[in-house]
Amino acid sequence: MFITFEGGEGTGKSTQALILADILKKYNIDVVLTREPGGSPGAEIIRNLLVTGSVDRWSNMSEVLLMYAARSDHWQNTIKPALDNGSWVLCDRFADSTIAYQGYGRGVNQDFLKLLYNYVIGDIEPDLTFVFDLDVEEGIKRATARMEGNVVVEGRFEAMDLSFHKRIRSGFLEIAKNNKRCVLINADAHPKVIHRQIMDELQERKVLPWKNLPA
Ligand SMILES: Nc1ncnc2c1ncn2[C@@H]1O[C@H](COP(=O)(O)OP(=O)(O)OP(=O)(O)O)[C@@H](O)[C@H]1O
Ligand SMILES: [Mg+2]
Repeated sequence: MFITFEGGEGTGKSTQALILADILKKYNIDVVLTREPGGSPGAEIIRNLLVTGSVDRWSNMSEVLLMYAARSDHWQNTIKPALDNGSWVLCDRFADSTIAYQGYGRGVNQDFLKLLYNYVIGDIEPDLTFVFDLDVEEGIKRATARMEGNVVVEGRFEAMDLSFHKRIRSGFLEIAKNNKRCVLINADAHPKVIHRQIMDELQERKVLPWKNLPA
């Protein structure tokens, strides 16, 4: 089972991925919780190049290729081996983020992004994708509050202008509408409410065999 968490800055993806991973582990499911960009030693080095430094550090194309260099390493070394091993993979951001940020956000050709996906990943897609939707300013407020006091500031994308983040939000809404694997989550709710919604969805899709899991 391959589940991805997608959406803009500060929408609560990491929070929910962690809660779900913890609960699955309690039910003795082998879970690999991972993230992008990053998720393997090589890809984490590339992550650092992408999420730190000045907003205009990379051209659009360099940014796409760095994302896919990281994704290729992550896929080969973390995701694919885990899926082959029968583990569940919960991935905090994946290829939809590239479509939203570099495609809808920066105007990189989406056919090119799909081509890269097909070469690097192949015809496998996530089984299920939760797309977190939240007012852009609220999300950035949450993300900025979380960053305060951190030693390493991964704020390169957060620092981009509001119109960029608004294009990303509508991009994700479009992605959610066009793909059956996607479930749109209203992220402006209590984390417990969102978690319940995620569990309900997993049961409705018969992904989880049990009824009445604890909230
Ligand atoms: N449903 C929620 N309501 C209010 N605050 C939340 C909610 N979920 C998470 N938060 C808080 O908002 C901040 C951002 O959450 P989180 O890190 O999970 O978002 P994210 O989508 O992973 O962000 P990023 O895109 O920056 O990785 C955290 O401080 C978290 O505790
Ligand atoms: Mg996160």
